[in-house]
Amino acid sequence: MILRIVKHGEKILRTPCDPVDYAAVRKDLPRLLRDMFQTMYSVRGVGLAAPQVGLNLRLSVVDVKPEGLSRRLVLINPEITAKSGKIVQEEGCLSLPGVYAQVERCTVVAIKALDARGKPYEMAGEGTLARVFQHEVDHLNGKLFIDHLDFITKLKLMSVIRDVRKTWT
Ligand code: NI
Repeated sequence: MILRIVKHGEKILRTPCDPVDYAAVRKDLPRLLRDMFQTMYSVRGVGLAAPQVGLNLRLSVVDVKPEGLSRRLVLINPEITAKSGKIVQEEGCLSLPGVYAQVERCTVVAIKALDARGKPYEMAGEGTLARVFQHEVDHLNGKLFIDHLDFITKLKLMSVIRDVRKTWT
């Protein structure tokens, strides 16, 4: 089932999410993950956080398709454990359709999280994957990529950001 994606301006995107109690969500998780991946793929996204589908849960799905091949990652209660380097690249967000900006992120990022089965894992990512890890953890903390922009850039984008409200459905 394709879920509705919450847009910038809706409160849940600014609410830091609660940790997932794996045992409590286990029964509903397979369906939720299936729906989240389907929703993400339907709009060609590379990451989707639970608050973007209206759920206050520290949970994201990611698939950056390295070498064009699908690799589904489930991030439950993810934490960034190490990061290094700096790179500025264009970034967007499914909750801010039409808004793109250059954002500085770390080049390499390591995370620890639980997988779909509730098993802890650690993973290092670089390039797009590192960027998506940081973008997703931000979402779970109520933060959006536009928060990283300097004042002038944000000012220039203001009308586009404001127009996002018109895409609410
Ligand atoms: Ni996003």
